[in-house]
Amino acid sequence: MIYLDNAATSFPKPEPVYQTLDRFARTSLANPGRAGHRMAIAAEQSLDAARHALNQFFRGEAPERWIFTMNCTDGLNLAIKGIVQPGDHVVTTDLEHNSISRPLRALEKAGVITVTRVASEAGYVDPAAIRRAITPRTTLVAMTHASNVLGTVQAVEAIATIVRESGALFLVDAAQSAGVVPIDLRATAIDVLAFPGHKALYGPTGTGAVYVGPRTDGRIRPWREGGTGGDSSSPTQPAHLPYSLEGGTPNVLGVAGLAAGIAWVADRGPDALRRHEVDLLQRVVDWVEDSDGWRIAGRWDPVTHVGALSLTVPESLTPQDIGAILDTSFDIAVRPGLHCAPYIHRTLGTFPDGTLRLSPGPFTTADEIAVFLHALSEITTAVG
Ligand SMILES: Cc1ncc(COP(=O)(O)O)c(C=O)c1O
Repeated sequence: MIYLDNAATSFPKPEPVYQTLDRFARTSLANPGRAGHRMAIAAEQSLDAARHALNQFFRGEAPERWIFTMNCTDGLNLAIKGIVQPGDHVVTTDLEHNSISRPLRALEKAGVITVTRVASEAGYVDPAAIRRAITPRTTLVAMTHASNVLGTVQAVEAIATIVRESGALFLVDAAQSAGVVPIDLRATAIDVLAFPGHKALYGPTGTGAVYVGPRTDGRIRPWREGGTGGDSSSPTQPAHLPYSLEGGTPNVLGVAGLAAGIAWVADRGPDALRRHEVDLLQRVVDWVEDSDGWRIAGRWDPVTHVGALSLTVPESLTPQDIGAILDTSFDIAVRPGLHCAPYIHRTLGTFPDGTLRLSPGPFTTADEIAVFLHALSEITTAVG
């Protein structure tokens, strides 16, 4: 199969990730615990090592500020539900994945918060529009770093400065940027960063993390309470990070794989990995420019784009038709539809059918993209 669905989850993973998962599962898969037996202590140490690796990779303030989650949705819910209070105002954008939009909408519907959704233009949010949306009641600005539909990367550095000046907290969804866009938490005023481990950091599914910066201290409550592998006498969740926000048995196996993925990415560098994907997508952009009926959704900017690209398809077809034909007749995996981000499709005018999204990965080759484009040509010709 030609796999062009890396924006959903990356496949294949780098070889060291498979090797680590196999070795760890056979030798070290105990329940982590600081007061336990040697294998439990070793499992705890592997979690700590992964927290250090994350802290170094993203230049966070301290390893204990990294909370392991089961995916990006988990981290975003932890942040949103842990931070907002009744009466708060939250600013978000129309680019968001449902993992931000739905928790905000549920809180809004319950009368807990009010929400302003800033509209993007051609896939980009204007920092000035965020500034205009912030009110004295705004406690949180929650937005994506890169659109999972369009691959457009947002001006989070400029927006972070605006949010910091306002006193609100800034939550960034780095699902599509972590691993392909350098993120420096000491240089950028991001308070909370959430991402999955299973996309461009090449961990297995069931992994993710959220970073809670110093300005969240005393402002974020746990939304899941339970055991932490130590400190059992207290009737309430421990007050200190990471255990204040990390109840229950963590995915130690997955985190070991994630640490191997991060090491692999750090070796190559996010910029080089992003450039490989963008070079492949440039071939698709060039093909679209010469083809009737096809269009790129959003503004293509190879200098900043990440490796996801949405195409609007000729009128005689739907993205779902093309996705199904590519899968069954050409053995090519892409993602048609709304990509869990309905608001941006309304803005683009592609709701409800959506677009055809392709997302190459580090192991995708130029030959595979040529086969994909040949398949699109054949399908377009066949339906005339
Ligand atoms: C921008 C964005 N945010 C959040 C998510 C949710 O990630 P997960 O499936 O790991 O919960 C995704 C997944 O595609 C995404 O693309």
